[in-house]
Amino acid sequence: MATTKQKVSLTGIKPTGEPHLGNLIGAIQPGLALADEYQTMYFIADYHALTTVRDPKLMKRYTRSVAATWVAAGLDTERTVLYRQSDVPEVFELTWIMACMTPKGLMNRAHAYKAAVDRNREAGSDLDAGVNMGLYNYPVLMAVDILIADADVVPVGNDQAQHVEIAADIAGAFNHVYGDRFRFKIPQLVTPSADAGRTLPGLDGRKMSKSYDNTIPLFVPEKQLRKLVRRIATDSTPVDAPKDPDSAAVFQLFEQFAPSDAVAETRKRLEAGGMGWGELKDQLFEVLNEQLTPLRERYEQLMAPDSELDAMLAAGGAQARKRAEPILAGVRKAIGID
Ligand code: TRP
Repeated sequence: MATTKQKVSLTGIKPTGEPHLGNLIGAIQPGLALADEYQTMYFIADYHALTTVRDPKLMKRYTRSVAATWVAAGLDTERTVLYRQSDVPEVFELTWIMACMTPKGLMNRAHAYKAAVDRNREAGSDLDAGVNMGLYNYPVLMAVDILIADADVVPVGNDQAQHVEIAADIAGAFNHVYGDRFRFKIPQLVTPSADAGRTLPGLDGRKMSKSYDNTIPLFVPEKQLRKLVRRIATDSTPVDAPKDPDSAAVFQLFEQFAPSDAVAETRKRLEAGGMGWGELKDQLFEVLNEQLTPLRERYEQLMAPDSELDAMLAAGGAQARKRAEPILAGVRKAIGID
């Protein structure tokens, strides 16, 4: 990790599924770009995933898959600290300490918990049905991820903004009591700029999302990629008729991945009439396949058992622990348990 006085940016990624094109454009590429401005730290939030992922094989697979995806997409482990949350046991010790500083009411107001309670109310069930303490305490663990890394900024999507505000509140609660003995840095929320965090349409034209089952997974074999691109929904405008490129998911995808002169040319041909959606799909497939093939090859190397991925994660974990140790030691001293 660089020793410059650059600000530290930290993000956690929950390993809950296989990565898709929407993740690449909306989260991974903007995330990688942060390394130009910040000292970046990325970790795989495996213990957060335990609130929902209950199959040990999947837990292992998704955890490696997240790490392999980021590395294949260009994350440079020489510049960035990449680690697994579970490799930093200091996190869990601090989680108890910070839970003791956290008002229960603050957790009652957390969106994810409130949404679960609302669903139960609507269904006429017990309000806490299906809610485990991991879900309830989720924001405390997340606050600790941030505070123990001494992070300056936390770039997250809007859905995670409240969690970062909660982290700042919990840090403030600790500082209020122990601030003359130890002070946490108050983390700052950074939400993606208008250009970053772009969303992609999925196969059915809605936002590409695992929950809509409309994704193009990043690392499917070439043949399957071709099939998926063929499945993108289009209207039945005849080949010869003029078309509105911007209303078509297939064009919106093409626009994201093709060079701008090709996009301009294709736009002209669609508007003039004479170019069918099928031809555009073939072009989109070619562009995607060309860009994804090197990533796919690197991903597969990394996903192989005993690849260098495990050593990369172990090295990142050791670096993250080095940052965490003095923080936990300072906190223990401050609270009188050292
Ligand atoms: N809760 C985040 C998500 O679901 C993942 C996460 C865990 C995280 N700990 C974090 C993000 C700390 C930023 C900082 O996406």
